[in-house]
Parts: sequence; structure tokens; C-alpha cells
Amino acid sequence: MSTHSEEEAGPQGLASALVEKGALTSDWLPAFDAVPRHLFVPDVIWPGRAGMNRQDDRVIRSEEPETWWQAVYRDAPITTQWDDGAYTGPGKGQIPSSSNSMPSMVFSMLDALSAEKGHKVLEIGTGTGWNAALLSHRVGAGQVVTVEVDEATARDARKRLSDAGFDPVSIIGDGAEGYPAGAPYDRVIATASIGRVPRQWVAQTRPDGLIVAPWGPTYGGEAVVRLAVATDGTATGGFLGSSAFMRLRAQRTGRKHVREYLGGRKWPADGRRSMTGVSPESVGDWPVMFAIGVQVPEAFPWAETYDDGSYTLWLRDTAVTSWATVDYEPGRAEFEVRQSGPRNLWDEVVAAYLWWDAQGRPGFGRFGLTVDSEGERVWLDRPDRPVPVLGGEGR
Ligand SMILES: C[S@@+](CC[C@H](N)C(=O)[O-])C[C@H]1O[C@@H](n2cnc3c(N)ncnc32)[C@H](O)[C@@H]1O
Repeated sequence: MSTHSEEEAGPQGLASALVEKGALTSDWLPAFDAVPRHLFVPDVIWPGRAGMNRQDDRVIRSEEPETWWQAVYRDAPITTQWDDGAYTGPGKGQIPSSSNSMPSMVFSMLDALSAEKGHKVLEIGTGTGWNAALLSHRVGAGQVVTVEVDEATARDARKRLSDAGFDPVSIIGDGAEGYPAGAPYDRVIATASIGRVPRQWVAQTRPDGLIVAPWGPTYGGEAVVRLAVATDGTATGGFLGSSAFMRLRAQRTGRKHVREYLGGRKWPADGRRSMTGVSPESVGDWPVMFAIGVQVPEAFPWAETYDDGSYTLWLRDTAVTSWATVDYEPGRAEFEVRQSGPRNLWDEVVAAYLWWDAQGRPGFGRFGLTVDSEGERVWLDRPDRPVPVLGGEGR
């Protein structure tokens, strides 16, 4: 059942819905009111669905003004670009490459950032410019630097920002480099996800400053992390809550087709056969995927689904050396496994799952991340309890 506030498509309805969810705090209300989302949503959009990585077909404002407006004032992300601009058709492209993020996520991250008037803030991923405008309202536009890798996206955002009365420093470039000329920053916020914290972000943050970014392993599972930078140049902090952002361009991982793994042979090729009592169903939720992904680096899952509710869970490594399949059928207690290559990917996933289970099935809130001169480590409960990485060094 939709609530009263969701029925009223407009800024006030969205504000009430966000306040009800606890995402919009009273100190961010003035910015929400002063920076209406509709000024930052382009005329051509692919509306998203809350909590799902799915988009509706293209909506053009002049053709469907009511649908466009409803999409703007719903708590859901809005895709604004596919395939780095290569796809513009009425359907959907391969990868969504820019968006106006889900409002409850935007305000939860801004709340976590604890940005105050006068703080110098670096944003990575200008996108539509909405977040940069909200930050500009909060800390002063002259205090905000926003970096966008996509030139057309950055230019459109600049115009929207300027039309709305905000002129933050807008840089076209790779945000993984930060923007040293504006450093040091009190706060750094990324609205594209990462699997490694760029060292430049830490180096460009003032001691006692904060970095807020969506972080997730290659495997899947992602959450927003809030890192405090110490005087010795290390950064550490806990994960807050689940997220699903598009990847920072420089950290996207290529995914080769299954046929490249099979080397011209038909499945099961040379796959070693075994049976497993761990159901593929128990390893598919976002928090367990995160725990698995931290332990099983450089590998990713994909489910090939069939009409009768069964599916094959494929696991592949990014080095294209190893693959595994697990055949799930409803009602069964044991499942057939095939594994090929130097890595036994399903065995790795099972070991990682059992570790997570033995720790009491922790959610994102029990995990944290430390970045220092030795690299970066995810930990459970305390920085001195690193999550084990299977295969250890040198992978
Ligand atoms: C989820 S959108 C950002 C939403 C935006 N903050 C807003 O308010 O609309 C992610 C953006 O990050 C950008 N991006 C991806 N990789 C980047 C990089 N290496 N440097 C800077 N921007 C990047 C994408 O082009 C995309 O526009």
C-alpha cells in the first residue's frame, strides 16, 4: 500500500517520505527545499525502481510530462546515460553509466559526511549536479570541487548548477586522481563505487577529515563506508549500509564471455565433478555476497536461469583461468558442481560462506575498512580482526 506522502508527487511528498524513512534529517531540509530535484533531472530519462538494479523504458519530458514528474519525485534512482553515452535509444543499453541517485541514498550519504558551513568538499561523480548543488547550499559553492569523467555529463551539470545559482569548481577528469589543486579537503564524497580507495583521496584529505564512498568487491555486495583520516595518513572506519552505485570508470572490471573460459569446448569441458550440500540460494544476498567477495578476490557470479525455477550458478575469475558451475534445483539437498582451472572457485565460495556463518552472519554494520601504507583491509568488528583473504598474497 502506498503511503499518503508517496501519492503526492512533488517536493513535499518526497520530503515527507524521506523524513519518514529517517534519510532526510531536519538540518538537510533547507538544502532539500532550496535545491529542487527537478532542476537537476534531464529531459530524457530511464526511471529506476527503488532497491532494484532495473530501469523502465526511456521517458521524454515533452512527450510524457506527468510520468517524468512522477519519476522525479519518487524515492528511486534515475538513469540519465547508458554505455558512456553510446546508447540513446528508447529501450535500454548495456550498462547504466550516469544517474541522478536515489534520494534516500543521497541524503543518508550527506548525513554521514557531516559537512558543515565553511568545509572544503571534494565530490567525485558530478552526474546531474544535484548532489554538488546540495553541498554548495550547505558549505558554500566556492568550497565545493566536483569532478566528472564524462565531458558531456559535466557540461550539462555545469549549466544546471549555474542556472540554479550555484557555481562550484567543476572539473572534467578522472576523479580517481582527486583534484590536488583544491586540496586539502575536509570532506571527500564519491557517488561512483570503488573496490580500492584511491590513495590520492586519502592524501588530499586533511587530518581528522572524512571520506564517504560506496565500496564493494568485484564479486558483488556493496555498502557505503565512512573513513576518518588520521594524522599519520591512514584512513579507517565502518561500513554504514547497503548501496548499489555504478563503478568508478577506472575500476570497472571486464567480464569475458563463458565461451572464453571453455576454450572452444562444450560445458562441462574439463570441469571436475563433485557434489555440494551448500545451496547456491544461501550465497546470493547482498551482505553475504560482500563477505564472500572480500575473501574471494577477482571473481564474480552469474546465474543462468531456466523456466522451472532451477538455475546454474556460474563463477568466473577475472584472470580468465578458472570457472565453476553449481546446478540449483528447488527441493534438493545436494547440488552438482563442476570446477575447472587452478582455482576451485566454488570451494572458495563455500569456505568464505562458512566463515561468515561462523561469525554469526554479520551484516554491513559489523564490517570496516582500513587504508594504510601496507594496502587496504576489510575487518570485522575491530581493525585488528581482518577478514581472511583466500589464496593469500600474490593473487
Ligand atoms: C551515480 S552518478 C553520480 C550522481 C551525482 N552525484 C548526482 O547528483 O547526480 C555517477 C557518476 O560518476 C561518474 N564517474 C564514473 N567514473 C568516474 C571517474 N573516474 N571520475 C569522475 N567521475 C566518474 C559517472 O560518469 C557518473 O556521472
